[in-house]
Amino acid sequence: MSLLRRWLPPADAAPALMALSSLGCDGYPRVRHVLLSDADDTAVYFHTDSRSSKVAELTELPRAGIAVAWPQSGRQVVADGTVRRPSEESLRESFSRRTRYLQLLAWCNDHEMSALSPDERHRRWAEFDAAHPVLGPPDTWTGFAIDIREITFWRGDPDGPSQRIRFVRNDTSWTSEALPG
Ligand SMILES: Cc1cc2nc3c(=O)[nH]c(=O)nc-3n(C[C@H](O)[C@H](O)[C@H](O)COP(=O)(O)O)c2cc1C
Repeated sequence: MSLLRRWLPPADAAPALMALSSLGCDGYPRVRHVLLSDADDTAVYFHTDSRSSKVAELTELPRAGIAVAWPQSGRQVVADGTVRRPSEESLRESFSRRTRYLQLLAWCNDHEMSALSPDERHRRWAEFDAAHPVLGPPDTWTGFAIDIREITFWRGDPDGPSQRIRFVRNDTSWTSEALPG
């Protein structure tokens, strides 16, 4: 997990974008991109709207897969694990770290808004923005910690074959193996 943190952007930079997969309630895999909000010694965190499909899916089956790629530096991380809800305090703290635009999005991006014309959406957005100079998290703000079970680091090499190192977590330690491809 410390290697993962070394590959992620520093806390004061824009967060990495990760593909997040869950199992759809119809049995088909579902994937979308979310911001990777944080990573610690056991988990990767992301935040979302409690009304979204991913929340229903991860509540039904609390397992997720993720992938983050840095094509310019020839790097990719692929991982999976089980999900859990982080503490209320951590949720509030993560909201405070969101940009103003993303805070507004968390408040304004609902079903009702999505059905309006672009002009009306912009009008309501500007009105809400002007009326709320400081925002705390809405009731719909939520997030997940993905406790990482298996993580694979891929490194490209312009002078030779790419290489992957896969780490698998056991009860108290990790095992690792080098893989091609
Ligand atoms: C660059 C980018 C960043 C995004 N970040 C998030 C995010 O951090 N959280 C989130 O819920 N959705 C984020 N989205 C939107 C999701 O990709 C997705 O459309 C939305 O969460 C609904 O997904 P669902 O219906 O599968 O739950 C982002 C989309 C893009 C393109």
